[in-house]
Amino acid sequence: MHRCPEQQKKSEMNTNSVVQAIRWNGECLFLLDQRKLPTETLEMEFRDAIGVAAAIRDMVVRGAPAIGVAAAYGGALSVAQHAGKVNWRAAVEADLQALEGARPTAVNLAWAVAQVREQLDANDDDPLLAVRGLAEQIHAADIAANQRMGEFGAALIEHRCQVLTHCNAGALATAGYGTALGVIRSAYAQGKIDRVFADETRPWLQGSRLTAWELLQDGIPVTLIADGAAAWAMGQGEIRWVIVGADRVAANGDVANKIGTYAVAVSARYHGVRVMVAAPTSTIDVDCEDGDAIPIEQRSADELFGLAGARHAALGADAWNPVFDVTPVALVDALVTEKGVILQPDKAKIAALLANP
Ligand code: MRU
Repeated sequence: MHRCPEQQKKSEMNTNSVVQAIRWNGECLFLLDQRKLPTETLEMEFRDAIGVAAAIRDMVVRGAPAIGVAAAYGGALSVAQHAGKVNWRAAVEADLQALEGARPTAVNLAWAVAQVREQLDANDDDPLLAVRGLAEQIHAADIAANQRMGEFGAALIEHRCQVLTHCNAGALATAGYGTALGVIRSAYAQGKIDRVFADETRPWLQGSRLTAWELLQDGIPVTLIADGAAAWAMGQGEIRWVIVGADRVAANGDVANKIGTYAVAVSARYHGVRVMVAAPTSTIDVDCEDGDAIPIEQRSADELFGLAGARHAALGADAWNPVFDVTPVALVDALVTEKGVILQPDKAKIAALLANP
């Protein structure tokens, strides 16, 4: 475990955001422990894939693109540990299955693991070099994609306004800069945003613990609201855009994201507020016809029963804790990817965008 004052500096990779969730030194993976934020900034060090799988499951690292990047490095750690030994491919495959099974909804995880498998199939001579290179390339490409999405998304915001975001789709949830928060960073730098409303995001508090902290690191004004206040805040008339990320976008454009996004999108439509989803093409899953095909992660009821180990829920109550929901594409005004923007997305427009090299 490392205390990390280096969070106050820019990273070795140019992320254009102060916060860095994932660091790689060529041999070990370092993850900022997001369970501890904002009270403590601690990095955990990982030397094997099973540890990385547990870190993904236990939310040391979270956010769809970030867990994809972490899984790719997990693949590299696995190859480093097993390559050259008897039956090493079987040992690596067991690790890859542990990684891809760590969380079900974010497709970036399965996407990254599939790429590791492809590299292994194509590179018998030096698998470690190949998989390590792949992980570094996925890491760098995610930062570049976020910066492009930032520019594309900011261009959609015509007038200086307030925006609302849900969960944390920032540097913490990606390799750097963020998807939704990347758009917010770019638009804020252009003077188009004067305030960000951040939903608290029960039950794990990604909004109050992570988004508020991350925006403050970059000096972006943020107002925290209870999830139940989002509709009322939109009713006040200053919020023009809801800007969120995604864990998986189906072929038809339905969007799986943090539980509560659907309610925000319904409220936004009622109030004439537009909904922007910022997600790299690695989050689009053409094998999912629509939102019904997206697996929705259920987590422990304990996340609802209490906070920081202290129980507040009535003893004996049952709990249902789906941690993602699906926003129907009809409620999405703009899908922003690194390849371009789709207004009023649908299946044909998404297929055309993906076909574009
Ligand atoms: O459960 P989490 O914190 O991993 O959920 C994260 C989200 O829902 C994010 O909005 C999504 O992954 C997009 S991150 C760029």
